[in-house]
Amino acid sequence: MILISGTGSGMTAVLEACERGDLAADVVGVLADRPCRGLEVASEHGVPAAVTRLADFSTRHEWNQALTKKVRAYAPDLVLLAGFMRVLAPEFVDAFPGRLLNVHPSLLPAFPGARAVRDALEAGVKVTGTTVHLVDHEVDHGPILFQEPVPTRPNDTEESLHERIKEAEHRLLVDACRALLGGDVVVKGRVASVMSGGER
Ligand code: GRF
Repeated sequence: MILISGTGSGMTAVLEACERGDLAADVVGVLADRPCRGLEVASEHGVPAAVTRLADFSTRHEWNQALTKKVRAYAPDLVLLAGFMRVLAPEFVDAFPGRLLNVHPSLLPAFPGARAVRDALEAGVKVTGTTVHLVDHEVDHGPILFQEPVPTRPNDTEESLHERIKEAEHRLLVDACRALLGGDVVVKGRVASVMSGGER
């Protein structure tokens, strides 16, 4: 199950990996918090896609409850936040323990938040990157599964840097789904370890 808010390029990378047989999984559904291009792409791949807009509910709590119910209805083994640009309530997070993954365009804990790529550029860092992590009750926080550095370039714009970060994200997202679905992730406190076959 994948939650998105935008173009859904991360979602597409996971869908294509499933279709190629690189990832032994089926994407059972895609949900978005707003109408977006990613929903059309999901439909083109034959995946049920729907919107649950915050504006359609009188409180954020009700929206969170509705979203939790919709995701639960799919009984997903894994819930992937792939560019889902809303903070989810603790009740949502607690409904999918050890099964809720987020991808963020920085090397966390550096540059959390919605402007991570711009913040990295403005800070003048020479290396930023991407992080795939399990979600806890804090924003852009939780046990880290994979990170990949992406060097900045002198003439980078937010868009050019984000495009290179997304290339790395698409690889890591597939790796993280495979590791979690394969039972290769061990979490002790705040630290996640990804085991290879022999280490388990
Ligand atoms: C990704 O960079 C993700 O890390 C961030 O939002 C972006 C989503 O892009 N949270 P897309 O919709 O997958 O193309």
